Amino acid sequence: MNKENSSSKVTTPRPTREGQGGGSILENRPALKAEIDRVAEVAGYLWQKGWAERNGGNITVNITQHVDDEIRHMPPISDVLPIGTTLPHLRGCYFYCKGTGRRMRDLARWPMQNGSVIRILDDCASYVIIADEVVMPTSELPSHLAMHNYLIESGSRYKASLHTHPIELVAMSHNKGMLRPGVMTRLLWSMIPETLAFAPLGLGIVPYELPGSVRLAEATLRQIRDYDVVMWEKHGVCAVGQDIMDAFDQVDVLNKAANIYMCAKSMGFTPDGMTDDAMREVQDVFKLPKKRPC
Ligand code: 13P
Ligand code: ZN
Repeated sequence: MNKENSSSKVTTPRPTREGQGGGSILENRPALKAEIDRVAEVAGYLWQKGWAERNGGNITVNITQHVDDEIRHMPPISDVLPIGTTLPHLRGCYFYCKGTGRRMRDLARWPMQNGSVIRILDDCASYVIIADEVVMPTSELPSHLAMHNYLIESGSRYKASLHTHPIELVAMSHNKGMLRPGVMTRLLWSMIPETLAFAPLGLGIVPYELPGSVRLAEATLRQIRDYDVVMWEKHGVCAVGQDIMDAFDQVDVLNKAANIYMCAKSMGFTPDGMTDDAMREVQDVFKLPKKRPC
């Protein structure tokens, strides 16, 4: 929702890694670079799918596992900034974050000009930007970081969080009946067996809250305990995954099912959907997990 865009740069001169005689944080760090390349690849898919109008959507990835001593000693290039909430499990963690107001289609080509690396400070309530440029993180940072905090707390190995605006899923969220517990999950699972297989936890529902708010973060957190993908009513979805491709894939298969439902409806009939027995068989034969696998 932030109006900042890629042409509105920070006006006061700010130090950058470049200014300190350093190049990009990605230089000579192939594992970190591969992570950011995956983010850029997914950002391109989001744009191609029509889910990322203007600055729509955001991505954060916990990159702490790639952090070395040199990174730990990098001086901040921003002021100390508040998260808006206190997240005790994030002390000393590092995240790549899409910039607020930045476009996915730009991030796909220039990830380090349209996103930045942040360090969470010891108070667990604030952060600084450390690389490569002073790109202010997404306005949905409270929701993203609250989810990462929960993932760490619960011992999960998931590292990525995605928020996007998938057209058919958002359209379905405009119907009150669809938002009743379990209704959308059952309907989407019943459209095609693969939805059940690749989004086995289904879709959680978060009633409408103001974008970027701590209330939205708290409501998201309540649902992310049970679901990898949650619907933000009349807004979009939020998903977590082992990496950003995993989070994207889960949204993609759910939205594909929504699209099949919509196609049947626009052909003039309500699709039958797979039977409960057929769905149970898929769950049993493929031994689908009922909770987050790792
Ligand atoms: P940002 O540009 O701040 O990431 O916001 C986009 C968005 O989708 C808000 O919900
Ligand atoms: Zn949004």
